[in-house]
Amino acid sequence: MEDKIRNILKDSLVKIKGAKIKSELNDLRILLFGKKGQFTLLTKELKNLAEEEKKKLGQLLNEVKEEIEKELQKNLVRLEEKKESEWVDVTAPGKKPQIGHLHPVTWAIREIVPIFEKLGFTRVSYPEVELDYYAFEALNMPRDHPARDEWETFFITDNIVLTPHTSSGQVREMEKGNLPIKMLNIAKCYRRQADVSHTPMFHQFEGLYVDKNVSIPHLFGTLDYFVKEFFGPERKVRLRPFHFQFTEPSFETDVSCGVCEGKGCKLCKEGWLELGGAGMVHPKVLKFGKIDPAKYSGFAFGWGVERVYMMKEGLKIPDLRILYENDIRFLEQF
Ligand code: DAH
Repeated sequence: MEDKIRNILKDSLVKIKGAKIKSELNDLRILLFGKKGQFTLLTKELKNLAEEEKKKLGQLLNEVKEEIEKELQKNLVRLEEKKESEWVDVTAPGKKPQIGHLHPVTWAIREIVPIFEKLGFTRVSYPEVELDYYAFEALNMPRDHPARDEWETFFITDNIVLTPHTSSGQVREMEKGNLPIKMLNIAKCYRRQADVSHTPMFHQFEGLYVDKNVSIPHLFGTLDYFVKEFFGPERKVRLRPFHFQFTEPSFETDVSCGVCEGKGCKLCKEGWLELGGAGMVHPKVLKFGKIDPAKYSGFAFGWGVERVYMMKEGLKIPDLRILYENDIRFLEQF
């Protein structure tokens, strides 16, 4: 009988701990302590035993009963808590799933494109891995010309480079043979430079307009329109004489500072912020594109996407490289 009691204990503890719902525990309780339960029957059996045995086994029976009761209680609480944690309040407001967003550079591109589209420019894209010919030679920078140093170029072979600037799309566009040209080439560019203000990959947008009688006022008007649309109606554009091999004359373009409105402040010093290059397409470049410079003329400009975006948002990113490190803590700030 003693063995029987101990076996019931062992068995019951396993069942109690393994119970998954409360009713399992209730069933077990009835099986053990109910009218015809195992314990009830055992207690009855005790009566027939000798006094000594009766006392010993009676005590054991009580102890085992107590232990099982304790375990039952403990597990009732466990299942109660489990139920609570699974309880769903259908009236509670839903949790919004975390939704990502586009990269700030993609946003910038999506803002830039429609501005030029309103002026009739069409967005195009050209190879990221480019022939030296289109990146340099056809832009009036023959081999060994010192002007090439400006574009710290990655060479794949002697003739193949990673596009160092979107100007490489100019002669490609001219070769299509459709005039007039109103091209907007936005692309990744690569240069061997990596420091707090440079990333080896960045983006440029390049405009090219070739038609009869295109002159500097067309260039100025187009850039001024862009600046007002993109930065705000109070901003102005300024052309400053400069030198590029592929334009004549060439300019650096500046935009009036948004903080001091062109008066001069700590940010801009003299009232203007530098935007990028522009100019009237060099006759030699038109010739490379099989266009007669006696009949046609054109303007071009090439600016940095990251640069105009940061200027617009007034962002002072201490290290530009973070734009492309995919660190969620940075990207979440936009
Ligand atoms: N491609 C030049 C650069 O990367 C910028 C540039 C200057 C583009 C003058 C032009 C231009 O179209 O006319 O620095």
